Amino acid sequence: MSPACGMVTDGGFSIIEINPMEGRMRYLVVVSVFFFMLVMGVFATAQADGRGVYVKCIGCHGVDGSKHALNVSPPIKGQSAGELERKLFGYLDGSFGGDKKIVMTNVLKKLSEEDIREVSKYVSEF
Ligand code: HEC
Repeated sequence: MSPACGMVTDGGFSIIEINPMEGRMRYLVVVSVFFFMLVMGVFATAQADGRGVYVKCIGCHGVDGSKHALNVSPPIKGQSAGELERKLFGYLDGSFGGDKKIVMTNVLKKLSEEDIREVSKYVSEF
């Protein structure tokens, strides 16, 4: 009986004793969680970029890049990041493309160079 009472009392005391600390602890926790989320957010953005950009391509190329876009494009699945980048930048500078290249040029004009590199990397992993 008494050890139990002792524990309750100890518990009560320690809670009261920790209380003044808790404010600072909570502050530290909140600050560390904030920084953790900030860092994770930066990572998530960097990693999700390619995927985020690819959302714009799914309609024509399919979720996994295996569709023949508008019945003309070869599947983009299975191509290396280097190959994809060369073709995509080629659409923009006119050094690559078939009869329907205008379709791709219009899509790519709205993307940054960084987007194109990220999406090439993402597609090469299909
Ligand atoms: C409106 C439909 C459409 C959308 C959206 C689209 N594409 Fe295309 N894509 C095409 C067509 C059509 C071609 C073939 C164009 C040609 O004649 O060169 C093509 C060709 C390509 C090629 C060259 C394939 C090869 O090996 O010749 C790549 C790479 C490519 N697209 C990637 C993308 C990426 C990445 C996106 C998204 C940012 C995208 N496409 C969005 C229709 C589309």
